[in-house]
Amino acid sequence: MTATRTLGSTGPQVSALGLGCMGMSALYGESDRAESIATIHAALAAGITLLDTGDFYGMGHNELLINEALRTAPGAAREQVLTSVKFGALRTVEGAFTGYDGRPAAVKNFAAYSLQRLGTDHIDIYRIARVDPDVPIEETVGAIAELVEAGHVRHIGLSEVGADTIRRAAAVAPISDLQIEYSLISRSVEDAILPVCRELGIGVTAYGVLSRGLISGHFSRDRELAPGDFRAMSPRFQGGNLQHNLDLVDALRKIAEQKGVSVAQIAIAWVLGRGTDIVPLVGARRRDRLTEALGALDVTLDAADLSAIEEAVPAGAAAGSRYPENQMAHLDSER
Ligand SMILES: NC(=O)c1ccc[n+]([C@@H]2O[C@H](COP(=O)([O-])OP(=O)(O)OC[C@H]3O[C@@H](n4cnc5c(N)ncnc54)[C@H](OP(=O)(O)O)[C@@H]3O)[C@@H](O)[C@H]2O)c1
Repeated sequence: MTATRTLGSTGPQVSALGLGCMGMSALYGESDRAESIATIHAALAAGITLLDTGDFYGMGHNELLINEALRTAPGAAREQVLTSVKFGALRTVEGAFTGYDGRPAAVKNFAAYSLQRLGTDHIDIYRIARVDPDVPIEETVGAIAELVEAGHVRHIGLSEVGADTIRRAAAVAPISDLQIEYSLISRSVEDAILPVCRELGIGVTAYGVLSRGLISGHFSRDRELAPGDFRAMSPRFQGGNLQHNLDLVDALRKIAEQKGVSVAQIAIAWVLGRGTDIVPLVGARRRDRLTEALGALDVTLDAADLSAIEEAVPAGAAAGSRYPENQMAHLDSER
């Protein structure tokens, strides 16, 4: 994969697809450590240069996994890799999310632990996962700017924030990218958020481009979800909502079949096609899924394809919100 994109006007050049490593440690049930590492190695070999993680994905497990994968990867690939790390989520031993901490002292503390776990001397893009309602974004971003000044962080990112917060953050320091959910069935970013990012020269790293597997073409009604799997609590995966959403996938499948590509490839290609300022983070945790995702880079959607897709899955067509109600409340982007 040689396709690259630049994150905003101040951010780094990265591969056109990034690899999101969350599912290798948390939230989607069991995963296989050896296969996870093999998937990261395969991603690097294929030219992926952006690895996304969070310090709270498996409470450090994901960063340690990335550390191991990078230590055992060929040097040339390792040197190209950029790490994108989220921090700030507070969790219990049982894994419940209890809030967010964006105080400057906490930001520096989180970063010190992440650097140690990742085994690197800097983090390429650092961002708070959700805004701490008790700390002005200016203070949180200001603390990351101090980490940039000290050489511990290269770029500042944002996650799931709305237009006003983007403006306030960008007034403090250059922002490379906003990480936010964006897919055929999660398009709320298009109204106000994407235009502000474009106005301010901020890139987008899009997550959930397969809506956590729902629109991958591989999800079915009878799939058993492990306790603690995010999808077991996600409104889009429940009862009638799930059936409605899988019907949308069936409509998409017809278009994919006509083009000789898979449903996942058409869904990823659609996000890739929304602008060269957008880098989809694919959540593959197995090599076969990664290979499929990479195939999206070869899919071209022409005007006829795009209107067929729009007809099959119109904006707002999904049933159910993208997070459970208590987690929606933490999304500055949805205010
Ligand atoms: N900033 C934020 O708030 C936020 C929130 C969530 C995630 N993220 C980041 O974004 C990354 C991607 O998010 P996501 O994992 O929810 O995205 P996703 O790509 O929508 O979903 C990934 C899931 O889709 C399934 N899948 C089926 N076919 C696939 C294929 N060909 N390629 C990839 N996945 C396929 C996999 O499930 P099976 O393995 O079961 O097949 C996988 O676990 C995360 O890893 C994380 O780094 C950020």
